[in-house]
Amino acid sequence: MLTAPFTEIYQSDEVFDHQYPIYVSALSEIHWTPLKVIETAACFLAPDQSANVIDIGAGVGKFCIGAAHFAPGRFTGIEQRLNFVRVGNKLIKKLGANRATLIHGNFMDIDFAQYNGVYFFNSFHENIVLSDSLDEKIDRSPELYELYNAYLLAQLVAMPAGTRLATYWLSVTEIPGCYKLISSHFDDLLKLWVKE
Ligand SMILES: C[S@@+](CC[C@H](N)C(=O)[O-])C[C@H]1O[C@@H](n2cnc3c(N)ncnc32)[C@H](O)[C@@H]1O
Repeated sequence: MLTAPFTEIYQSDEVFDHQYPIYVSALSEIHWTPLKVIETAACFLAPDQSANVIDIGAGVGKFCIGAAHFAPGRFTGIEQRLNFVRVGNKLIKKLGANRATLIHGNFMDIDFAQYNGVYFFNSFHENIVLSDSLDEKIDRSPELYELYNAYLLAQLVAMPAGTRLATYWLSVTEIPGCYKLISSHFDDLLKLWVKE
């Protein structure tokens, strides 16, 4: 680990993922955002130092750590799996990525009013496609999927005009109509939105 100079780490998913333990890097292709996508999303979500972005379902913090390298502002990830939070915070410390933070918990416990940007990589999907689940450590069910989606959408609606949102691998129909689609990237998988 940490065999490459820090700036080089952010130029290749392979090198970046190698900074994590093997069981974590093995999940990367499907479950963690690629660095090119992170760069585009982060530069949109955080145009200046006043940006305060929350990653809903942060995993091992690849988005938050990468975003803090590519853009100004603060990036906080909320993650329900404690082992991922521990692994991510360890890497944050090693890299000195001090504008990235990971907290342990359910996203329903955070105060969305603190943030002016939201990143969301289809985090609730494992509740409806159990075979895509990261592990067996947490409860999953279609009911939780409905609950989480409804809660997230209500929070997005309540956020002020100007709130920036980046979604990766998400159906357009799941975003409230008060969010205007600004642009799409990476074969429409990454979508950038602003609340009107
Ligand atoms: C697809 S991964 C995305 C990881 C990270 N955002 C990235 O892009 O690299 C989704 C993560 O969301 C987490 N998650 C799912 N439901 C959650 C919830 N209700 N509260 C907190 N984390 C959740 C999962 O444990 C998983 O680590």
